Amino acid sequence: MKRVLVTGGAGFVGSNIAFALKEHYENIEVVVLDNLLRRGSEGNLADLESRGISFIHGDVRLPDDLRKVGKIDFLVECSAEPSVLAGSDGSPGYVIQTNLNGAVNCAEYCREQNAGLLFLSTSRVYAIEQLKILNFSEGKSRFEISEKQECFGLSKNGVSEDCSITGFKSFYGASKMAAELVLEEYKCLFDWPVIVNRCGLIAGPGQFGKADQGIMSFWMHAHMQKKSLKYIGFNGTGKQVRDAVHIKDLVRLIIYQMENPEKFQDGVFNVGGGQDSSFSLLELTTMCQEISGNKVEVGQELGERYADIPIYVSDMKKLKSVCDWKNELYIEDILQDVYNWLLDRQ
Ligand SMILES: NC(=O)c1ccc[n+]([C@@H]2O[C@H](COP(=O)([O-])OP(=O)(O)OC[C@H]3O[C@@H](n4cnc5c(N)ncnc54)[C@H](O)[C@@H]3O)[C@@H](O)[C@H]2O)c1
Repeated sequence: MKRVLVTGGAGFVGSNIAFALKEHYENIEVVVLDNLLRRGSEGNLADLESRGISFIHGDVRLPDDLRKVGKIDFLVECSAEPSVLAGSDGSPGYVIQTNLNGAVNCAEYCREQNAGLLFLSTSRVYAIEQLKILNFSEGKSRFEISEKQECFGLSKNGVSEDCSITGFKSFYGASKMAAELVLEEYKCLFDWPVIVNRCGLIAGPGQFGKADQGIMSFWMHAHMQKKSLKYIGFNGTGKQVRDAVHIKDLVRLIIYQMENPEKFQDGVFNVGGGQDSSFSLLELTTMCQEISGNKVEVGQELGERYADIPIYVSDMKKLKSVCDWKNELYIEDILQDVYNWLLDRQ
């Protein structure tokens, strides 16, 4: 690996990948391209520079911005409008152009360069109505997935790649899904490595959380600042469940995938924390209280939020059948690391 481009590389995931690549390989040149749309990303520029990573202010929607980068061996596409609420205000132009056209521009650039491509997709590609069919019961602190499931792709381990993608899924999910479909064509026709990871929640140090993206960081920050929070939808109980992968675990997987692309050419791969690294908002509140020492008021909003789902947990059987990767860090580790990072930044 001589020269790698990380698009969206000033963001949470991209910057962590750029740092890790620079650390892992002695003679690598890492270039980051980002339009700095996400607030907070500009805060990573000094760190990138201090580690010898070049930064280009550019936009994946513009093919010429990518071409300015020159020769590369691999591209990790982390640029995105990553909010599930994006476009729900009636203006989906940006989310579609960045997540779909941007990814296609990256693929085209990789084809020209004969470079490998790793694309970060999302669990949000699965149809919402399908995810809502998952049988679950209401436990004391969370919704719990039932043993018995009746639909293809759903099991007590969560959601697998076989789950249906047909149906409403948000502009975020739809634009990522459309990009996945185009990348599949590039992979088949041009026979070069394209790896697609469908990620559940990714969390850890370096994430500038918002209510609609980066929930662990957002929740912990609110506790540290003693700001009130709300449980939205699902009767305001806070029992909705997600799984989370620590950014360090994800980066470890990505480096392995870049080194062994041939193992990951058969379709797409769910990547997440799985059942062992899952949590409900209610449980998150308790953990944040314990770590920060602060208790904040958590109100209720009964109306369900656009495109929300009661449970998402990644079933990673397929990923684990092709490699030995497994999560080494779990919810408590992630939250502690987020707390330490926020404390440091205060
Ligand atoms: N963080 C998660 O929980 C999560 C979960 C699943 C998938 N993903 C995917 O992982 C990738 C990285 O997400 P993240 O959490 O780091 O988000 P992020 O918002 O922190 O990073 C995205 C970066 O892309 C940049 N960007 C946006 N539009 C751009 C454009 N048109 N041209 C160039 N740069 C642009 C932003 O400025 C930002 O720095 C995304 O593709 C996202 O969909 C993230």
